[in-house]
Amino acid sequence: MDDLRQKYLALVSGAGDEATLEDVRLAALGKKGEISLKMRELGRMDPEMRQATGAALNRLKDEIDLALRAKKAALGDAALDARLKDEWLDVTLPGRPRAQGTIHPVSQVGEEVTAIFADMGFAVAEGPQIESDWYNFDALNIAPEHPARQEHDTFFMAREAGDDRPPHVLRTHTSPVQIRAMQAQGAPIRVIAPGRVYRMDMDQTHAPMFHQLEGLAIDRDISMANLKWVLEEFCRAFFEVEGVELRFRASHFPFTEPSAEVDIRCSWDKGQLKIGEGDGWMEILGSGMVHPKVLEAAGVDPDAWQGFAFGMGIDRLAMLKYGIPDLRAFFDSDLRWLRHYGFAALDMPTVSGGLSR
Ligand code: DAH
Repeated sequence: MDDLRQKYLALVSGAGDEATLEDVRLAALGKKGEISLKMRELGRMDPEMRQATGAALNRLKDEIDLALRAKKAALGDAALDARLKDEWLDVTLPGRPRAQGTIHPVSQVGEEVTAIFADMGFAVAEGPQIESDWYNFDALNIAPEHPARQEHDTFFMAREAGDDRPPHVLRTHTSPVQIRAMQAQGAPIRVIAPGRVYRMDMDQTHAPMFHQLEGLAIDRDISMANLKWVLEEFCRAFFEVEGVELRFRASHFPFTEPSAEVDIRCSWDKGQLKIGEGDGWMEILGSGMVHPKVLEAAGVDPDAWQGFAFGMGIDRLAMLKYGIPDLRAFFDSDLRWLRHYGFAALDMPTVSGGLSR
């Protein structure tokens, strides 16, 4: 009995972790543990012997059990101490300097316009950048011989030799998303579609890839008046000036009738553009009432539904709002430019909390 006591108390005190300790417990007190087996031998003893040995065995069992529990608690404390020491954090250390990355002005402006239109009940719709010529042109009432097909300086995708179906195109505008959104959702509908578009063009204000924002609102009785209010509301919120003034100029787009181009009042002072004052006008977008043929192509009954659409350049909006002179630099990935014109990564623009602060 003394041998057993010494053996197991030594094993308990020597156990370095809870798993080892559990092994010791099983070896002594488990179903097939050494002490449990001894207990079983009691049956073969005469009554006197059994009583004495049984009592002693029980004491031994209790003693080992106690030692096990004490050791287990001690090991737990030690583990917790080690973890606390390991995960120690000095909350008085200064914060990290400004995060390294910045939000690109195109992303920032995309978030800003999305926030403004979401506030007016517009959802965001998307479409593919590689588009069939039906969606990019035909469905938008741009016939094959229409000059707009050439004006758009379209990039065509290659077809396999012998495949004489019309080639897909890199979409030249976000207007095809109008068709896709109406096909998917029908009317009434209120969506914006921000995204990349492509045209063969390259100078200070043009890049072969740029970003547009399409808008579409279709319902029973939507009119030009609604279009005007929405665009004025948008410009006021986006440029963050109360006194914005817009000028609607009659224009022509195949997919709208009537069509209007919209200019915003501005001034140029020492190369600095000011929105909302002065004698200048700057064109910012195209718009109009969606052409019945466009509604029809998208499966919406033009006798029951009508509405407006508009399209504007997101990069151009960014240039105007943040005074960025050259569009080509937008896509150069020059770190100095990104640091200068980029936005803090955690400032999400909201209409209520401020768009660009
Ligand atoms: N898709 C036209 C472009 O890229 C812009 C545009 C004009 C979109 C008038 C419209 C619209 O939705 O109504 O030049």
